Amino acid sequence: MVTIEHRNAKVKLAEQVYEPAEDSYLLADTALDLVKDCMSILEIGTGTGFVSAVLKANRNISLIATEISPIAAKCAKSNGIDVIRTDMFAGLIEKKQFDVVLFNPPYLPTSEDEKVPGWLNYAFDGGVDGRKDVEPFMQQVSNYLKPHGFILMLISSLTGIDEVIEKMRKYSFNAQVIASEKCSFEKLVIIMASATNNE
Ligand SMILES: C[S@@+](CC[C@H](N)C(=O)[O-])C[C@H]1O[C@@H](n2cnc3c(N)ncnc32)[C@H](O)[C@@H]1O
Repeated sequence: MVTIEHRNAKVKLAEQVYEPAEDSYLLADTALDLVKDCMSILEIGTGTGFVSAVLKANRNISLIATEISPIAAKCAKSNGIDVIRTDMFAGLIEKKQFDVVLFNPPYLPTSEDEKVPGWLNYAFDGGVDGRKDVEPFMQQVSNYLKPHGFILMLISSLTGIDEVIEKMRKYSFNAQVIASEKCSFEKLVIIMASATNNE
């Protein structure tokens, strides 16, 4: 069994589960800078549980994650993450609100013939424009965010950074890029967003 280590966290990998890559590391490191002890965190689409595990290893926080793939949910659980196998927010109690909601969505523009078999497709397939999951996420996230809470979302230049920020503004969020990293064929960015009625 392959295990990776990062910033005090040890995470077991599994077949058919997204292996943490540059995007996962950028989200984990950026979140660690912003997450403080005693905060409550929700991670959507936790995969192996890597990002959540890094936060838990370094902060005294409460954390719940969701994951649509049963194989990934099992893997995250084996890595000590309290994970609910569900589609985005569906299995959460409506009233529970968090200080921070994290999401590294499937963000790659994907045509029918680029889909990969099995549950792993959910890790990559962002639909034709790469933003398939951004709309349903933004539609629901306010229900799960405390009034002064914030979102950290990782996307790529291939997803359309301006388009995602525009979508967040449509849902009355202030959004800006707070971290970025150039990878071979794309730029990865972290967008931080909070409700505009908090100002
Ligand atoms: C790009 S991977 C990121 C995994 C992990 N958060 C990381 O950073 O390494 C996206 C993850 O979101 C999951 N996912 C995709 N759509 C989802 C949905 N509607 N609800 C919950 N999880 C979803 C995928 O199965 C995959 O594990």
